[in-house]
Amino acid sequence: MPRYEGVSPSVVRRLPRYYRFLRELLAKDVHRISSRELSQLMNLTASQIRQDLNCFGGFGQQGYGYNVDALIGEISGILGLERGYRAILIGAGNLGLAIARHMSFETKGFNLVGIFDKKRELIGQPVRHLVISDVNRLENFCGVFSPQVAILCIPPAAAKEICERLIPLGVRGFWNFSHYDLTLDYKDVAVENVHLGDSLMTLCYHMSELTED
Ligand code: NAI
Repeated sequence: MPRYEGVSPSVVRRLPRYYRFLRELLAKDVHRISSRELSQLMNLTASQIRQDLNCFGGFGQQGYGYNVDALIGEISGILGLERGYRAILIGAGNLGLAIARHMSFETKGFNLVGIFDKKRELIGQPVRHLVISDVNRLENFCGVFSPQVAILCIPPAAAKEICERLIPLGVRGFWNFSHYDLTLDYKDVAVENVHLGDSLMTLCYHMSELTED
């Protein structure tokens, strides 16, 4: 049963952006903002912001605007950032290590509890507060720590096999960098596919719009 009925994916996609802008305002000691000021800052219309937030009950007051602290709390609650889902990362190569080392999981709703690879020379290497484990130990690990989410930084061919192991072990969410479309095989899981290449090609489109020939 969804917590919020009929909320479009594009509204959900905008929530982290609201959260980020509001946190930046708070860091500058701004505690109250009108929907017009927020809309100018975020390059959205005031009515768009009102419509988006109304999906969850609306949090502004006529003539007052938004209480920044309260709105951060509301959006954090809607996103579930306090939940601390246990996440494991599979594939400690170039991409996986960059993510493991630089992403602040705790402020985004997750705790990184394990890192796995199949390469012998990587196993036992320290990464932040963890050491890389042998992917053969996945079943044992999941039996003890019950991770809910997996971050896939492995090639697509390997991702299919790993998903076939992880889903029966209770993993229900995937932050998927692998270019394997796991929603084709599994319907009952939450998947966020990340394709940096798509973003780069979108930039290419915008560059082509700027240049004449
Ligand atoms: P890499 O070769 O540096 O790292 C891949 C790691 O996965 C290796 O350490 C390898 O031992 C490990 N691995 C492979 N099969 C495994 C298995 N069954 N179990 C456990 N570990 C396994 O590659 P890189 O550059 O880190 O890229 C990883 C994947 O991510 C590639 O398939 C690449 O195409 C994809 N990628 C996706 C991006 C995106 O935006 N979605 C951006 C960059 C890479």
